[in-house]
Amino acid sequence: MNSQPELRVLLSSEEIEARVKELATEIRGSYQDKHPLLIGVLKGSFMFMADLIRRLDFPLEVDFIRLSSYGGGTESSGRIKVGHTLRSPIKGRHVLVIEDIVDTGLTISFLLDYLRKKKPASLKLCALTDKPSRRRVPLDIDYLGFTVPDKFLVGYGLDWDEKFRYLPDICFIEEES
Ligand code: IMP
Repeated sequence: MNSQPELRVLLSSEEIEARVKELATEIRGSYQDKHPLLIGVLKGSFMFMADLIRRLDFPLEVDFIRLSSYGGGTESSGRIKVGHTLRSPIKGRHVLVIEDIVDTGLTISFLLDYLRKKKPASLKLCALTDKPSRRRVPLDIDYLGFTVPDKFLVGYGLDWDEKFRYLPDICFIEEES
């Protein structure tokens, strides 16, 4: 891959906005009386989380967690470290995890197990995108934005080596032929 890869739009900002609005309606229906704790997985979920929360007009709390995978090169190894830990108590709370993309599923499975041990009242997952063709562990996504093909995605918070997070659309990197 060269330093200026060619980008193609997969999901436009308009499509994303419309889907985020629908997800917010679903989430409101389940959580509006539950004072949930929304936990964003850094860094990729920040834009999605901000847009989603703007549309949730009921009391909720926000926290973030940072995870890193180690020992696996560019691909998730399944050996995950918790970097920035949570300040919010989890026990007895209705927790909704907000993730940018589920790929192999190893990262988010680790996080859900980690949170489950803290005994939340409920624990669910909202993911903007899912690449089911790459899944290595079984996983239920309770609220899903888009199923996407097995391509490397950037934009709307997603990065390639810290680049392209600022793009308003979700794009894929065109493979060199
Ligand atoms: P998993 O453990 O394989 O499911 O990896 C999930 C994490 O890998 C996501 O939270 C992203 O940070 C990163 N990731 C996976 N696929 C992509 C992609 O296409 N673009 C950008 N980041 C990705």
